[in-house]
Amino acid sequence: MKKLALITGSKGGIGSAISSRLVENDYRLIATYYTGNYECAKEWFESKGFTDDQVRLFELDVTNTNECQKKLEEIQEEEGTFDLVVNNAGITRDGQFKKMSAEAWFDVINTNLNSVFNVTQPLFAAMCEKGGGRVINISSVNGQKGQFGQANYSAAKAGMIGFTKALAAEGARSGVTVNVIAPGYTGTPMVEAMREDVLDSIKSTIPLKRLAKPEEIAAAVAYLASDEAAYITGETLSVNGGLYMA
Ligand code: CAA
Repeated sequence: MKKLALITGSKGGIGSAISSRLVENDYRLIATYYTGNYECAKEWFESKGFTDDQVRLFELDVTNTNECQKKLEEIQEEEGTFDLVVNNAGITRDGQFKKMSAEAWFDVINTNLNSVFNVTQPLFAAMCEKGGGRVINISSVNGQKGQFGQANYSAAKAGMIGFTKALAAEGARSGVTVNVIAPGYTGTPMVEAMREDVLDSIKSTIPLKRLAKPEEIAAAVAYLASDEAAYITGETLSVNGGLYMA
């Protein structure tokens, strides 16, 4: 039987590469997409050549606690207990803190950090009860080192790391591992949306002198989800070209 995985932000730059990799590794994937984006999600599903057996598109507002609780309980009843949960959904609202609106702060904290509670909480107990599973949280190098213009994003991404360590301690007795991947600057629409001069100057500081490929982040997810990684928990795996060495 296929293992069951859920990913949030499934059709984004990194999310899409992770989704493909999980399907390649024979998971059945519940791929969440944001409310109202069905057409776009369906287009993505078709462009990837997925089948209904491989991927189920699942509308979910990851910022809505009650909706997540209700819908994720329902999907567990229909599909079974999850083997893997990948918290990947994330947004940026960059700007210097002195000019940052409350909206830019709360949007990012809600989408990038509170979503991790909303999505993991309804699924975690069943994973523990089953006696095994993996939670993988996609953080960022900027949650490790802090980034000018990203007080909101860095706070949320750092929060994911603390959450991971705490949950790893709780999951261990049940064989559920919880880890973080901290990607560096990756070739995705999110990074491509940056001002060219700012991105160029950041690129010049990356020891490997290039952006990460989304597939390189997906490979790290595949590894942490694999049997070989069974003894790794509470860990932050940096995939950043040497930009920050923790
Ligand atoms: N450290 C110190 N000072 C800095 C700085 C830094 N890293 N970056 C900029 N400054 C300085 C500038 O030199 C400038 O100084 P002067 O006024 O003396 O010229 C001043 O701060 C203002 O800088 P900007 O012109 O850049 O300010 P702005 O208000 O026009 O733009 C910003 C602000 C939009 C946040 C812009 O700085 C920016 O885009 N920064 C990069 C943010 C970033 O890295 N985002 C990552 C998005 S991708 C992602 O998040 C994925 C991931 O996980 C990696």
